[in-house]
Amino acid sequence: MSGPVVRPRRLRGSLPLRRLVAQTRLHPADLVLPVFVREGISAPVEISSMPGVVQHTLDSLIEEARACVEAGIGGIMLFGVPETKDARGSGADDPQGILNIATRAVVDAVGDRLVVMTDLCLDEFTDHGHCGVLTTTPDGRSVVDNDATLERYADMALAQAAAGSHVLGLSGMMDGQVAHVRAALDEAGYTDTLVLAYAAKYTSALYGPFREAVQSSLSGDRATYQQDPANATEALREIELDLAEGADFIMVKPAQPHLDVIAAAADISPVPVAAYQISGEYSQIVAASERGWIDRDAAVMESLLHIRRAGAQIVLTYFALEIAGRL
Ligand code: PBG
Repeated sequence: MSGPVVRPRRLRGSLPLRRLVAQTRLHPADLVLPVFVREGISAPVEISSMPGVVQHTLDSLIEEARACVEAGIGGIMLFGVPETKDARGSGADDPQGILNIATRAVVDAVGDRLVVMTDLCLDEFTDHGHCGVLTTTPDGRSVVDNDATLERYADMALAQAAAGSHVLGLSGMMDGQVAHVRAALDEAGYTDTLVLAYAAKYTSALYGPFREAVQSSLSGDRATYQQDPANATEALREIELDLAEGADFIMVKPAQPHLDVIAAAADISPVPVAAYQISGEYSQIVAASERGWIDRDAAVMESLLHIRRAGAQIVLTYFALEIAGRL
């Protein structure tokens, strides 16, 4: 057939045109910076497997939170690294525990200008490194005790809410955790404290650098509670359950390997969908760019665009501060 050649390339002809027709934009307000605060150190400590990311002191954490405010970033997600760990993760719900002290300090410094989130999980606080407390089955196996862990999460939730956390990030993948924590919060009067459910959290080798960041002593894996990367339908089940249990946000994690799940979540979720670009996703880009194999700035921008385009409204990323200045 004759006639004009259809030329989609016309829309790509200049930077202003490409900018005009871009369907996905990054904005600092959509980003959340995950940060680590470590007990008992007097200067920030580099995390060797995450170049550019540190374990903060309380003081340097406050500075980082202030930088987030200056950069117009949407939120900050706090992880605590305690000096001592035990089987039940006692430091997690101790009001004097590092995460709770740090939360109070950050909220006092920047509270109404930044959404302050806290990781609600036991793995940073347990000496065995699992996300819950352990029990022994009648046939002698050591397993994570789902329902006993829910009690610990409820105590942690109350400690974090008392410390002023705005959003509790439930990352442990225990069944029923959202309903249990929501009920505990409501009963104690914390009806405005939000719950971000790591609804679809997949087990992944890409968590490796995070284990260094929180000095995890985990041996083995989390395959009995985190999802199998082979499955997508299961993620929708987890998401529907968390929505029914009252989650205020749902999250998919890791992000870039699971863009299909993010898209499916965005299709069905009436609450905001977040995605977490995890430590290994960060370190892959940093390592390849340090070797000169890929362009860091371009790779960071692309990776975040993919995650947003798939349907994540909010992105947790260790690049949040770095990229905010370029948006
Ligand atoms: C659980 C938690 C983990 C991460 C966030 N929350 C560790 C895990 O599930 O193994 C990983 C984040 C990252 O890798 O950047 N407390």
